[in-house]
Amino acid sequence: DWTPDSFVETTIAALKEKLGDDKVVLGLSGGVDSSVAAVLLHHAIGKNLHCIFVDNGLLRKDEFESVLESYKHMGLNIKGVDAKQRFYDALNGLSDPEKKRKAIGRVFIEVFDDEAHQVQDVKWLGQGTIYPDVIESVSVKGPSATIKSHHNVGGLPDFMKLKVVEPLNTLFKDEVRKVGKALGIDDNILGRHPFPGPGLAIRILGEITPEKVDILQQADAIYINNLRSAGVYDKVWQAGAIYLPVQSVGVMGDERTYENVVCLRAVESLDGMTADWCHLPYDLLAKISNEIINNVKGINRVVYDISSKPPATIEWE
Ligand code: XMP
Repeated sequence: DWTPDSFVETTIAALKEKLGDDKVVLGLSGGVDSSVAAVLLHHAIGKNLHCIFVDNGLLRKDEFESVLESYKHMGLNIKGVDAKQRFYDALNGLSDPEKKRKAIGRVFIEVFDDEAHQVQDVKWLGQGTIYPDVIESVSVKGPSATIKSHHNVGGLPDFMKLKVVEPLNTLFKDEVRKVGKALGIDDNILGRHPFPGPGLAIRILGEITPEKVDILQQADAIYINNLRSAGVYDKVWQAGAIYLPVQSVGVMGDERTYENVVCLRAVESLDGMTADWCHLPYDLLAKISNEIINNVKGINRVVYDISSKPPATIEWE
């Protein structure tokens, strides 16, 4: 019979056997899968697991610092890498969503390869691949797909020549969460909403600038914090704010304003393939809208997305 505890026990034993004294590098994203894979590997090989967490400048407000802190708390051997400027430089002038995704994927691979080279004699690449990723290996948008689309461009980066260890590749998402719980991983990490690899770059429509990222981070943080304090966060499958490339007229005191619009998105879903927009309470939406408009300079209007998937998608890009 499959239980989370028996899975943990047999997997750690098997990893010890397989890896011996070898070193493993693994990229952490803050998401559930990579976190659970890292903790399993850490139990098996301790400091020989070298985790790399990249700040691409496109994460939620304060996310890099707080997630890095929780990882350190769990005892992981982890290096946080500030690569914000490299990503902003690569995104400069790009507004096409797929071009933005490609640029982000390319820079991530460069940064990760640089970091992997710092680990002497590394033999393995650890990954948080889960069973649905294995069967849907042609998934259009996953990080592994991003990596694949680069296989053909100018040869393989060195870390992709490493042997691959994927301790979760027989599990479904709900099983990964149970295993994470059995390992004592914080609910703050296990319960978090899915967040796309390209991050806020696909929630800022059009060109990315650090200023727009800053504005969106502020609005998004107000939104998410309010979902949490209203007790709604765990009932929503995914939520986030989107920065629209639209300016509209408003009035603040007796001044006319001409500023940008933020759209709030919240969906219910099982796997992201289909999704319904969430019927959030009007009072909550009103509170969030007021807080954003009164506190975030550059935003004077907030709208709510009432489109389901299909025919819309969850993200706007
Ligand atoms: P869509 O917008 O296609 O999103 O309805 C479905 C789910 O996929 C996530 N998503 C991505 N995840 N890289 C990722 O790692 C991407 O480029 C990407 N695009 C969308 C989205 O957040 C949602 O959970």
